[in-house]
Amino acid sequence: MTDINRLKENFDKGWKFHLGDLPIMHAVKGGMTGGLTDCEDIEDGEWLKIAYFDERESSQIDPAAWKEVVLPHDWCVEGDYLNDGGKVKHHKSHGYLAAGVGCYRKVFDIPQELEGKKISLEFDGVFRNSTVWVNGHLLGIHASGYTGFTYDISDIARYGSEGKNVVFVKVDARDYEGWWYEGAGIYRHTWLTVTDRLHVERYGTYVTTPEVSEEQAGIAIVTTVRNEYDAAKACRLVTKIYDIHGKIVGESASSMEISFQQQGVFEHFVRIDKPALWSPESPSLYYVMSEVYDEDQLRDTYRTIFGIRTIEFKADAGFFLNGKHYPIKGTCNHQDFAGVGVALPDQLIAYKLRLLKEMGCNAYRSAHHPATPELLDLCDQMGMLVVDENRKLDVSPSGIEELKHLLYRDRNHPSVIIWSLENEEILEGTIMGARMVKTLASITRSIDPTRPTLAAMNHGWNDGGYSDGVDIVGYNYGQREDQDIRDHEKYPNRIMLGSESASCTVTRGIYERDDIQGYCPEYGIHIPEWSCSVEKAWRDVVENPFLSGVFIWTGFDYRGEPTPYEWPNINSHFGVMDTCGFPKDNYYYLKSAWTDEPMVHIMPHWNWPGREGQIIDVWVYSNCERIELFLNGKSLGEQEMPRASHLEWKVSYEPGELTAIGRNGSTEAARKVAATTDAPYAVKLVPDRTQIQADGCDVAVMRAYVVDAHGRVVPTVDNELHFSMEGNANILGVGNGNPSSHEPDKANQRKAFNGSCLLIIQSLEEAGEIVIKSTSHGLIDSVCTITSF
Ligand code: GAL
Repeated sequence: MTDINRLKENFDKGWKFHLGDLPIMHAVKGGMTGGLTDCEDIEDGEWLKIAYFDERESSQIDPAAWKEVVLPHDWCVEGDYLNDGGKVKHHKSHGYLAAGVGCYRKVFDIPQELEGKKISLEFDGVFRNSTVWVNGHLLGIHASGYTGFTYDISDIARYGSEGKNVVFVKVDARDYEGWWYEGAGIYRHTWLTVTDRLHVERYGTYVTTPEVSEEQAGIAIVTTVRNEYDAAKACRLVTKIYDIHGKIVGESASSMEISFQQQGVFEHFVRIDKPALWSPESPSLYYVMSEVYDEDQLRDTYRTIFGIRTIEFKADAGFFLNGKHYPIKGTCNHQDFAGVGVALPDQLIAYKLRLLKEMGCNAYRSAHHPATPELLDLCDQMGMLVVDENRKLDVSPSGIEELKHLLYRDRNHPSVIIWSLENEEILEGTIMGARMVKTLASITRSIDPTRPTLAAMNHGWNDGGYSDGVDIVGYNYGQREDQDIRDHEKYPNRIMLGSESASCTVTRGIYERDDIQGYCPEYGIHIPEWSCSVEKAWRDVVENPFLSGVFIWTGFDYRGEPTPYEWPNINSHFGVMDTCGFPKDNYYYLKSAWTDEPMVHIMPHWNWPGREGQIIDVWVYSNCERIELFLNGKSLGEQEMPRASHLEWKVSYEPGELTAIGRNGSTEAARKVAATTDAPYAVKLVPDRTQIQADGCDVAVMRAYVVDAHGRVVPTVDNELHFSMEGNANILGVGNGNPSSHEPDKANQRKAFNGSCLLIIQSLEEAGEIVIKSTSHGLIDSVCTITSF
């Protein structure tokens, strides 16, 4: 027995990637599937090619066809945009990038002293249809691109002098699971897990808080311990509860005998005083340490983070968090981002969440599939409610397994408040669909009765008994013909949620429709017939609290679904931010409606050469009481600012400064200036962080702006910016949010789109200064320094 009780080691580095299929023949000889490598006596052609994935056979692999990659990795975003006239299925919906087949391979050591332990390889998410071999042994095939899986390699591993281990993963991403960009490859983290043979089961703890008051919280901890020795074990489980500062605040223990190859379930209950309640504004966390003893020998320690909070949905009044009315200010989001596709380093996920929080968003709907585990960890830590979504209405064994995986994996996260069972399924409102959703809901309640179930529906709300199958009836675009309001009157006991709304199509920095480029103006007047403006979507919640809240479609633009256009558009326009996280004007609308810190925003920009004397529509968003607008110092009048709305002025254009002053009472509370800029002069680089970890994973997000000689962003230009790097970092990707840009995301240059573009840099493993330079013809060089530690 070594002193390692449990090890969860990141397994993302040292992989090699091969684009395209490789011939694999499954073993028939000897009745074995997969095949080992000690097969010299077997004739070529008779034996399986899988043998060549062993390191000793690596000469057979064309080294030039393999490149080094660090996970998470999405090869789809490395490809070229292709308009093949729809020959490739769903190309438009998926962003005009081909996925295909790819292979990954990694050689690794396992030290001798781990022999006798349980060793697993864990994959958090591979898009999609992956087949995994280790040391020639076929371990399994996993179809879903959105659920994780694990393989026990204890017996087939090579320990110490036995030799090196080889894992080979074939990924076939040709099929789709959704109608948005889904990426391709091992796009979430991988782990090597080592435990004792007596250990807490995978996802083996379930922490709930059945009693919560300001004075005390009662915490129930159910722990499943597995005994994989070949003899019974006298097992003692000690459950310790720690606050986030590492102080023990409660403890419980009990013992039981667990027979060999069996599991034991321990139920502990601990009371703690004066609990710090979790909320998006104050995300207080605790953790449970489960200590597994065999007699008096410690065999395993397992940490479970949890939070203490209460949630309640009321049919007449909406959502309550910790007993207080709490309107849900949500956005729906897919996973992808500029420069990286769906392979987001953790800090990029944190970046997206920070941007959403700054806008006042308090809830995230993971559309339309289980979220990346780190996203949920970050939502717990940063404070963001989550609707965690099952991929589809599916009662086949694999469909039910997918749902169960979601539930067991995520049921300790305080951020998760709703299990969404499906989105816009065709069988909504049918008797067959009703049976199916009822089955999924019942399975869900049996695994976690503490959170309500939801169906995010877009039709059939009142048919076939479908809505009765779930706790919360979701209204996607419920505004159509006032469906939501009419249903509330007819079914006053129905709990309702604005599960999806808006889908308003706007392009960042664009104020006139352009059908050639495929751009939609920011005024948000081009709205698909099924949807409504962002303003309407939110005001409906304000006027109808029974809706509980709304999830705006979407927080960020994403590849695919270029509604209302097709090629040359390759990404959606629905976001309140673009694919890089640059805000559109709707972002400021939501900020004005969702936050209280006084702010004012003016649209459009004020660069309209040649338009002198023509009328420009000026809109202002603000949370102040009144707004006065000035053009070059001359007042254009003051107006009352209704909350959660916008003001309009018709302004005869003259270059200069347009200023909006927000007042509360007689006091100026905020102001915003839109100034006519001079010509582009320099590049300004603005990093989100100036210190990152030298771990080969951490990233800094760099906004690059084209500015005039006064440092003002020139909002109409598309200069191509070139980047170079000194120090221990790589350029991970670039982007600019232009839905019609076909420039590569993996590059050292990018055109600015309406004055801005983005660069993501990733640290290497050596600490030191990282200097990023940007140059462009005729512009002054810009330099930015980041320290890695
Ligand atoms: C919804 C759907 C989303 C997206 C959106 C576009 O119906 O749930 O995935 O397609 O429409 O408006």
